[in-house]
Amino acid sequence: MKLIAPSILSADGGRLGEEIAAVEKAGADWIHIDVMDGHFVPNITIGPAIITSLRKTTALPFDVHLMIDQPENHIESFARAGADIITVHVETANHLHRTIDSIKKLGKKAGCSLNPSTSLTQVEEILPDLDLLLIMTVNPGFGGQQFIKNTLAKVANARKMIDTRSCRTILEVDGGVNLKNIADISLAGAEIFVAGASVFGSSDYAATIKTMKDIIKC
Ligand code: DX5
Ligand code: ZN
Repeated sequence: MKLIAPSILSADGGRLGEEIAAVEKAGADWIHIDVMDGHFVPNITIGPAIITSLRKTTALPFDVHLMIDQPENHIESFARAGADIITVHVETANHLHRTIDSIKKLGKKAGCSLNPSTSLTQVEEILPDLDLLLIMTVNPGFGGQQFIKNTLAKVANARKMIDTRSCRTILEVDGGVNLKNIADISLAGAEIFVAGASVFGSSDYAATIKTMKDIIKC
């Protein structure tokens, strides 16, 4: 399974519903929604109320990436707002197992994300419980940043870790994914490709997503 998940962080914020419809028509598989709190990351974005409204605009899965401190206090709100996958950062969760468990108990897929400087060993014990592992390939906080090259080896190591343990965890990559590097990221073993600026900054969403899909399906 190889899928493209456009991040609406780089979409036109005044027309989010239309932008989601446009990428859906253009072939997007998931909608990646970046939630930032101004504490864990130096930026603030949207919360459950906006997601509730956006939920009415599409049936595509909502891949909600929580870049917030104390995510355990907000899991229920995001689940109720219509998230399908809820991903928390390992750096923010004091009791990661409990948080992952609570996401699953709400009937949602549970993911865990790692900053570029965080070691994969941090998720070794919880890997069998994760539906999704998200490797950040930029420092979280902003769209349109450059892919950090050293993280490619980490993606390959994450792939190995998942396969060696025969886990069913899906491997997602987020940050700086574009038409030039998506082949290498795919070869490293990623399955879900978050793409913000490279999709919403392009003049033809359909052509960009199709080219990405042609590359990753090779
Ligand atoms: C960064 C976010 C990303 C970001 C990706 O903190 O988690 O999802 O929007 O955007 P691009 O693809 O532009 O790097
Ligand atoms: Zn993200």
